[in-house]
Amino acid sequence: MEQLQGSPWLMAHRSMLKPNQPRKFSLLGRDYVLWKDSQGKITALPNACPHMGAMLSEGWCVTQCDGSSTIACPFHALEFDHQGCTVLPGSNRQTKSLLSPLELIVQGDLIWSYGGYEPKIPIPNLMNAIATEYDFIGVTGERSIPTDILSLLLNMHDYNHQNGTHRELFEIEEVQVKQFIDEGLHSHAYLAQPRKQPTWREILRNPAQLALPKVLEAHLENYFPFMGVMHGDNKILSLKECHLAA
Ligand code: FES
Repeated sequence: MEQLQGSPWLMAHRSMLKPNQPRKFSLLGRDYVLWKDSQGKITALPNACPHMGAMLSEGWCVTQCDGSSTIACPFHALEFDHQGCTVLPGSNRQTKSLLSPLELIVQGDLIWSYGGYEPKIPIPNLMNAIATEYDFIGVTGERSIPTDILSLLLNMHDYNHQNGTHRELFEIEEVQVKQFIDEGLHSHAYLAQPRKQPTWREILRNPAQLALPKVLEAHLENYFPFMGVMHGDNKILSLKECHLAA
C-alpha cells in the first residue's frame, strides 16, 4: 500500500483537456475535476461541491478578466478558483479554500500527480524520452475498467502474460525469458518468443504472415505500480507500448 500512496500517477496528456472544458478524472479512488484555462494553467479540485455535493465536472468554466478561469457548480453556480476559494453571495470577501487543490506536476504535455501523498518514487524520465523520439498524434481512446486494484496490478505487471493473452493471436509457441533485471520497483524482462511457422496455404490466404518475424523479441520495462512499457524492435517496426494505471 505504501508504494501505491507514494507513486506518481499519470493523470492525463495535455491534449485531453480543451481550454475551459472541465473533465472528471479519478485517482486512487477519489474523483477530481480538471480544467485548463485559456492561459494553459491546469487545476484539479475534488469533484464534489462543498455546498450540496454536486459534481463540479458537470459545471462550466467562467473566464476572469486576468485570463484565468473558475469552475462553476452546476447546481447553484458557486464558482471556485484555482485554490478552491469562492466568493459567497451577498459578500465580497473571498472564502478560505473550501476545496483543497490536488497537487499536479506538469512535465511537458504530461500531467502527473502523487494523489496528495508524500512522493516516495520519482517520476521516471522514460515518458519524456519517448516524447522527444516520437511525434504525438493524439489520444486514441480512454477506457475505465471496473476492477480491484490488485487484479489490475497483477495483469499489468505480469511480464509473462504473452504466454497467455497474446499466445493465440501471434501463434507464440514458447516464451523464453532471456534476461530479467530486478531493480526492486523497476525491472526489465527480455523475451524471445518463437512463433509457429505458417504453412504455404496460410501464407496464400494471408500474405502479411511473411512480414512477421519467426521470433518475436520483446523488452518489457516495469515501474511498479504505475507503469509498464513494451519496447518492440525489429527490421520493419519500432514500437513502444505504454500501460499506465490510475
Ligand atoms: S451544490 Fe454547488 S453551489 Fe450548491
